[in-house]
Amino acid sequence: MVEHKNSLEKELIRSEKLKTAGQLAAGVVHEIRNPLTTIKGFMQLFQNKEHLGQEDQKYYQLIISEISRIEGIITELLNTAKPNASKEVNFDINNIIEDIVLLHKSIADEKSIEIVTDCYSLPEVKQDPDQIKKVFINIIKNCIEAMDKKGVLTITTNYIKDKEEVEITFKDTGCGMDEETLNKIGTPFYTTKEAGTGLGMLTCFRIVDEMGGSLNIKSKLGEGTTFIITVPVN
Ligand SMILES: Nc1ncnc2c1ncn2[C@@H]1O[C@H](COP(=O)(O)OP(=O)(O)OP(=O)(O)O)[C@@H](O)[C@H]1O
Ligand SMILES: [Mg+2]
Repeated sequence: MVEHKNSLEKELIRSEKLKTAGQLAAGVVHEIRNPLTTIKGFMQLFQNKEHLGQEDQKYYQLIISEISRIEGIITELLNTAKPNASKEVNFDINNIIEDIVLLHKSIADEKSIEIVTDCYSLPEVKQDPDQIKKVFINIIKNCIEAMDKKGVLTITTNYIKDKEEVEITFKDTGCGMDEETLNKIGTPFYTTKEAGTGLGMLTCFRIVDEMGGSLNIKSKLGEGTTFIITVPVN
């Protein structure tokens, strides 16, 4: 079983990378967004011209949908880099898990993926629930995407009393990761997916970091992956 540990050194490199990615994004993203909106607007205008043949219509549609994809990546990048106006409240993480499972039920059913939850009673944490939701959604999305069809996603929660922390694990029976992927996961734009942006795990690492928690990943190629998150109570 290959393990991705947040050792101090790795953590330092990662937070440097996070900072660089954030600065880069903040400086450049707005500048890219405006001309992009103009280009898209004109393409849409041209697409509606009557003289266009069917073939040309198709090409215009392709250009417009590619521009939309770039817009998606940019929005995602902005969300990743945006400093958090955190709204901290006391809440039970088990309630968030329940919501999120409900949210993913239909897409899981479609792929014959079973979502099993094994949740123990937890003390409340004082965090921003939207941020935690974002982490869970990104991880569940990855787990579901890693399972072609027929798989099991097991979500467990526990209270680790002596460490005063809540532990949440997500375990999939998907494709797993090789060592290279495990080392690069969370690096800005690192993706092995055709339509991936490679920002999902970067966001997760950043949020967990800001909460003072930890995120560890264990994976075995062909067998599956486990994400272990801890969140401090208080
Ligand atoms: N549960 C998993 N099983 C196997 N590989 C995974 C899993 N989660 C992440 N990965 C690998 O890590 C890479 C980075 O994940 P990350 O979520 O950051 O980006 P992504 O899923 O590719 O794109 P997106 O920005 O849409 O999330 C993935 O492309 C995939 O190779
Ligand atoms: Mg992802």
